[in-house]
Amino acid sequence: MRQIQFGTEQVSALGLGTWHLGEGNQQQTEQELAALKLGLQGGINVIDTAEMYGEGRAEILVGRALRDVQRDNVFLISKFYPHHATPALMKKSLTASLKRLGTDYLDLYLLHWRGNTPLQETVTGLEQLQQAGYIRHWGVSNFDLVDLQELWTTENGRHCFANEDLYNLGSRGVEFSVLPWQQQRQIAFIGYAPFGSEHGDFFQVKPALKALAAAKGVSVQQVMLAWTLQQGYLTIPKAGQPAHMQANLAALQLTLSAAEIHQLEQDYPAPTRKQGLDVI
Ligand SMILES: NC(=O)c1ccc[n+]([C@@H]2O[C@H](COP(=O)([O-])OP(=O)(O)OC[C@H]3O[C@@H](n4cnc5c(N)ncnc54)[C@H](OP(=O)(O)O)[C@@H]3O)[C@@H](O)[C@H]2O)c1
Repeated sequence: MRQIQFGTEQVSALGLGTWHLGEGNQQQTEQELAALKLGLQGGINVIDTAEMYGEGRAEILVGRALRDVQRDNVFLISKFYPHHATPALMKKSLTASLKRLGTDYLDLYLLHWRGNTPLQETVTGLEQLQQAGYIRHWGVSNFDLVDLQELWTTENGRHCFANEDLYNLGSRGVEFSVLPWQQQRQIAFIGYAPFGSEHGDFFQVKPALKALAAAKGVSVQQVMLAWTLQQGYLTIPKAGQPAHMQANLAALQLTLSAAEIHQLEQDYPAPTRKQGLDVI
């Protein structure tokens, strides 16, 4: 499995997204568990989950998948709600997440998106959790440049390990200023929803993409994933169906030439000015 530098860590280039997993009937849930296991067996060693996902059901499913692997071989990410972003409430959230996941620590704990709690209070709480050994790193999600800059002014805000934002071929706004800013400060980046989320609701398939997938004899999603992987950031597709997980693992073998990337970028150009942050 291809490894990438992720802040100070080395992780697999592909991670496992888990939004909406564990929400269906038993048969569906078992199929999703099989898909997660397939991903782990295929060499993926990052899992992205959240207390929000199915109100804990995704974390329970991840906990089941983790029983088959050595805990310290997996980089486990979870997130807390913005209305749990005070020191006392995030500790309560984390305790519940750890219980559902069947582990005693997270590798990365993220503020899911910004709410009304002052950032300083959230950073103070996260630092306490880190010092107590419950989390190895902390970070944020759905932060735009202005949020990151504000975070930077808080005490210990510079300890932020990662920011997780929407990133796919059709949502490239972060390339203009968020990614360069993070790179300069060595804050790791996680791109979520490489397919534009469930049913591609946040992505429009345009002719260049369709044509390239057909020419290469692969699916549109595999081209999208190959493009995201070639950007060099951690990407965390969700696949509840084993066949989709298989296709995503196979996309790791797909290389897009400079000419093919140029072809895609006719329809999906890089940003040339600051854009508002795309979120789901
Ligand atoms: N931080 C945040 O605020 C935030 C927001 C959104 C997402 N996320 C994270 O990012 C992860 C990924 O985002 P997402 O789940 O919204 O969407 P996504 O990964 O862009 O798309 C998931 C959809 O694509 C389908 N799919 C997966 N592989 C496929 C393939 N090879 N061919 C065709 N379809 C395929 C899945 O179907 P099946 O499931 O049926 O296989 C599912 O319907 C989430 O699960 C979550 O962990 C974070």
